[in-house]
Amino acid sequence: MKRSYDKLASLFKRKGYVWGPSPEIYEGGVSGFYDLGPLGTILWHNVANTIRMNYFEEGFYEITSPLIMPKKVWEASGHLGGFTDPLTKCAKCGAVYRVDKLILELFPNEKVEGLTYKEYDEKISKLKIKCLSCKGPLTNTVPQNMMLKTTVGLNTEAYLRPETATTTYLQFKRYYEFFRRKLPFGVFQLGKAFRNEISPRQGLIRTREFNQAEAQLFIFKKDKNKWDAWNKFKDFKLNLYPYKLQEKGKPKVMSLSEAIKNKCLQNKAYASCLGIAYKIMLDLGFDPKKLRFRQHFPNERAFYALDAWDLEWRSEFFGWIEVCGIHDRSDYDLKQHSKYSGQDLSVQANGKKEIPHILEIAFGVERLVYCLLEQSYDEEDKRTVLRLPPHMAPVKVMVLPLVTKDGLDKKAKEVEAFLLDEDFYAEYDDTGSIGRRYRRADEAGVPFCITIDHQTLEDDSVTLRDRDSMKQLRVDISELPEFLDMALAGELDF
Ligand code: GLY
Repeated sequence: MKRSYDKLASLFKRKGYVWGPSPEIYEGGVSGFYDLGPLGTILWHNVANTIRMNYFEEGFYEITSPLIMPKKVWEASGHLGGFTDPLTKCAKCGAVYRVDKLILELFPNEKVEGLTYKEYDEKISKLKIKCLSCKGPLTNTVPQNMMLKTTVGLNTEAYLRPETATTTYLQFKRYYEFFRRKLPFGVFQLGKAFRNEISPRQGLIRTREFNQAEAQLFIFKKDKNKWDAWNKFKDFKLNLYPYKLQEKGKPKVMSLSEAIKNKCLQNKAYASCLGIAYKIMLDLGFDPKKLRFRQHFPNERAFYALDAWDLEWRSEFFGWIEVCGIHDRSDYDLKQHSKYSGQDLSVQANGKKEIPHILEIAFGVERLVYCLLEQSYDEEDKRTVLRLPPHMAPVKVMVLPLVTKDGLDKKAKEVEAFLLDEDFYAEYDDTGSIGRRYRRADEAGVPFCITIDHQTLEDDSVTLRDRDSMKQLRVDISELPEFLDMALAGELDF
């Protein structure tokens, strides 16, 4: 059966995962804004909490900052001056395009990373790219700032944050006291960020309002190679694509310690950040074969980055998608905020004052939600299945009476209540034939179905059906929690 992004997007709409562009009832909405429906919202929380628990495990503390900050903050961070995307316009109809995305949309195998604006223009002309809507000629590439502006009070110019990171850095002095004046320490935020993307057209992958889960490690420069958690990560084997290999080579699988040895990665603390990001992807249920770490070209890096690697996931419809950026931001941010605020943000290190470095792990939550959904989407001959990893699925189990008579429906409602009480997200469904209800659950990504039949009334046993294999087991109701725990952990053979 032919798979397409449109079919996928329509399934997500129908099943209550992703709606939009929002607000849909007003002229079809504004591109780059989406609602997560009831199942999408639970999936979002499951993704966010998996990242949150991993950050906690690595010793990071969570904080929450305002989304709006005055102009001065963004002058200091460099976002007002340098946070831009390459823009081209149609000289005839005025349609706007982000140049690198436009080239990739039409020529997915072209290399666009690290190109200068002049090189973009040369590519546009060589590939004879014209306006997608009227075929008019495109103007030269210019930088377009992505900040969203607002006003606080009557006339204080302010901006919605384009990343959580900067707002995290501003409380550095507070952390220093909280962590009893001892570095390294880690802090993270999970919250909204806003970017005025140029004509976004890729659903949840490029939105103007989204959530980030960004962890920041504050560490002295000299300690970047002394990192307690290194032993945990050094043997991780990652698919690494250094920028020097991107010209003609291929990504290379190597352990983090090999990557340090051959200077592909510069220090153990930074390499461990790649390890943390990788572990999070595995915990979320991503297939490691579809992951790679791609290093930015020196002229591709954000203005704050000394080194930058994107953790990318291979999409069937959009090619490689960045789901996480890992940045060595050096002492850039704290130096800038020291300078612009007039506050000394240096601290004592071995008897002298020093501004610490910052290493960052920056996940985009909605992108992960999209990637998990795409990875899970499967078209079989007779059914569409959303093979979400069971531990990430919004509804864990559907409870179905075989028929709604002879007391089977009452018994099924008792089983649903029992499972909810045992903390399994269960739902009851009695509409349509049993076959149709299985299909409906499969499409929504529900990993297990429990069917109450006439035997249940005799011996208190039910059937437990596995979404992926469609096999069934007969289980006593009292043993369901144990069986479901095993099934959700992938440890039950059907
Ligand atoms: N804080 C890094 C980013 O937003 O990509």
